[in-house]
Amino acid sequence: MNNIIFNELESTNTYLKNHYKKYKDRDCIVALNQTMGRGRFDRVWESQRDLTFSWLFINNKALHHMIAPLAVCYALEEIGYAPMIKWPNDVYLNGKKLSGVLIENICTKDNTYTIVGIGCNTSYKHDYAYVDVDRMELLERIEEKYISLMNYDLEQLHKSYRLYSNTLNKEITFKGDRYKIVDYAYSGEIIIKNERTCLKVSANEIDIKSCLIF
Ligand code: BTN
Repeated sequence: MNNIIFNELESTNTYLKNHYKKYKDRDCIVALNQTMGRGRFDRVWESQRDLTFSWLFINNKALHHMIAPLAVCYALEEIGYAPMIKWPNDVYLNGKKLSGVLIENICTKDNTYTIVGIGCNTSYKHDYAYVDVDRMELLERIEEKYISLMNYDLEQLHKSYRLYSNTLNKEITFKGDRYKIVDYAYSGEIIIKNERTCLKVSANEIDIKSCLIF
């Protein structure tokens, strides 16, 4: 991966969306300060002295929605933390959110550009977890893990993702009914089941945090 470091950007994802034509496959845009970070469901991702970066992948069909949170988990585990994944791709530490992933695709006539944006808290943030580590060191570890995870076959990747999941077998309510999360599809959906039916639900259809039954 080739890191291009900016002192300040509004959002590394937005920057790459506007400038992807200038960059090569696997270039990584890093912002030391991100002023208008974006999250899933159009949420704001607050970050000051945190790790915020976006990778550009060109015509790469890897399962980035699984690889990205796993790479963060593997990197953190190596330095003594015990992270878990909350579907679809949040990383949690001691019950609080530490890291989030925003994946966006741009399809042109000839190519598909995938932007994988990752934010990981390395400074205190109210109600969130953070890790007290050097940002650039953490980035290098995540990159190393990402590259190795891209060589996993689908089955290995799925197995690792399940292993780190903290939502598997949890009960949720969806459209008024109660279900259990029984698996994750390779394509990223959760598979939920109750005594009457089994459904595949995409991350755009459900905000898991508000549906989990504790
Ligand atoms: C989420 O949890 O909703 C996803 C948060 C993703 C935040 C990262 S920070 C780097 C990249 N740039 C952005 O604007 N967002 C992602």
